[in-house]
Amino acid sequence: MGINKEAIHRIRYAAPLHDIGKIGIPENILLKPGELNPAEWEIMKLHTVIGGRILEKSETDYLKVGETIALTHHEKWNGEGYPKGLRAEEIPIEGRITAIVDVFDALTTKRPYRSPISLNEAFKYIAKKKGIHFDPNVVDAFFGGKEDILSIKRRLKDKDHSLFIRINSGEFSGVLNLAL
Ligand SMILES: [Fe+2]
Repeated sequence: MGINKEAIHRIRYAAPLHDIGKIGIPENILLKPGELNPAEWEIMKLHTVIGGRILEKSETDYLKVGETIALTHHEKWNGEGYPKGLRAEEIPIEGRITAIVDVFDALTTKRPYRSPISLNEAFKYIAKKKGIHFDPNVVDAFFGGKEDILSIKRRLKDKDHSLFIRINSGEFSGVLNLAL
């Protein structure tokens, strides 16, 4: 996509911070086995702005990119995402990339409320949302790297367990799920 090596490196190491704001979401919502109701969903959406606040005023480039990603990984190309409803190139490229990776990972791994779908189904879903949820150029780049994605997926196969860390720190207290 014409992104330089340093910027790629920053995205690669900052992207795992995308959901750090979930430590501010109550665990009855975070770990709910069923679908969230509308009120719970509004609270869940706040993990983006909480993540942004945790990382704001950071001094390293990695954490600055982490802040951008925390804030924008749920924005959608068509403007129907959250928290701001940014559209197309208003969404920083780091957020547009993480959006696809996050959805692909979510679909293909186990969640408290559903089983994973197959890799083929997940690829189909990403293709279907091109230009709707996802930046068309990032979707093309994603499919350009399909073989790499499959080999990473094989190498880092889920062991079907998670590590839950409880954090109590001033205004942020909650549970962080580190999928291992
Ligand atoms: Fe998220």
